[in-house]
Amino acid sequence: MPDYYTEIIHEGGVVAFPTETVYGLGASAWNRDAIQKVFDTKGRPADNPLIVHVSGLDMVEDFALEIPTEAKLLIDHFWPGPLTLIFKKKPEVLDIITAGLDTVAIRMPRHPLALALIRQAGPLVAPSANTSGKPSPTKPEHVYEDFGYDFPVINGGFCDVGIESTVLDLSIRPFEIFRPGYVSRSAIEKILKCEILPYRQHDSAEKPKSPGMKYTHYSPDADVRWLLPDETISDPNTIYLLHSDFDDIKSHNNIINYFGDFDAMTRELYDRFRQADREHVTTIVIQPFDSTATNELLIALLNRISKAIGKIY
Ligand code: TXA
Ligand code: MG
Repeated sequence: MPDYYTEIIHEGGVVAFPTETVYGLGASAWNRDAIQKVFDTKGRPADNPLIVHVSGLDMVEDFALEIPTEAKLLIDHFWPGPLTLIFKKKPEVLDIITAGLDTVAIRMPRHPLALALIRQAGPLVAPSANTSGKPSPTKPEHVYEDFGYDFPVINGGFCDVGIESTVLDLSIRPFEIFRPGYVSRSAIEKILKCEILPYRQHDSAEKPKSPGMKYTHYSPDADVRWLLPDETISDPNTIYLLHSDFDDIKSHNNIINYFGDFDAMTRELYDRFRQADREHVTTIVIQPFDSTATNELLIALLNRISKAIGKIY
């Protein structure tokens, strides 16, 4: 890790860095002014709290009031990795991080460059490194698109997972998924040997428990919609994302067939959204998922696509 990036953080600046999920916009978790720059850079509403990124359990202890036994089991099994845990917070955690809540979200990313930066620079708040409302960045070009070509970005290539971490609330029992992600509910339940509440959409009258989920985001400028039954796949001004049942269609130009590889579809989703905007394509059409499918990654994919379509909070 070049000292250059650590210095920017130590001097109260912000740096975009790769994680295994999406690129993060990092600032020191102990520097209020630096964290304010994160909100300003993104145009992020102040009521949307940030995740603290750590490189070890000792750092968790600086932010979390208590670490329940279940958290230790999950940390042993899933960290470093795409699982964010919400704890009751210590009083000294800055309010700007938690948007005034009495809880704090923490995760240890798996990307070696993220871990190296945190080890040197200390714990970092890091929302996704995109302008609020845009799809999260999964490669450096995406960060440049939003923040300009002079922006400091640590280049880690394409992100492995491609969508944001699973967010699990451990501050109240029963535990509840606030944001679905690559780490599935059943994988968590298997480790905890107890049931946790699934992610659910909150209706707009209800105060959302995870403030970020109330914002329509992850959306490209292009319209996103589902493929209709019997629709022909032929409009050159549309990007089609297919996954199954179209064995005769090979991927080319504006038609991308994942042939059942949902990991690849997840990894590329935001890049395809951004491709549409770059190429001034007006519509993205996605093949609907089979509602009887057992692959839990589809819950997370469906969540991100539905948000891009703009139908859910
Ligand atoms: O994969 C990820 O989590 C990426 C990478 C960069 O680590 N980060 C990310 O951060 O997605 P952001 O800020 O885009 O999303 C954080 C989510 C939001 O939905 C926010 O509302 C929720 O976590 N969150 C943060 N702190 C919370 C808290 N104390 N209680 C409830 N929800 C919280
Ligand atoms: Mg985000």
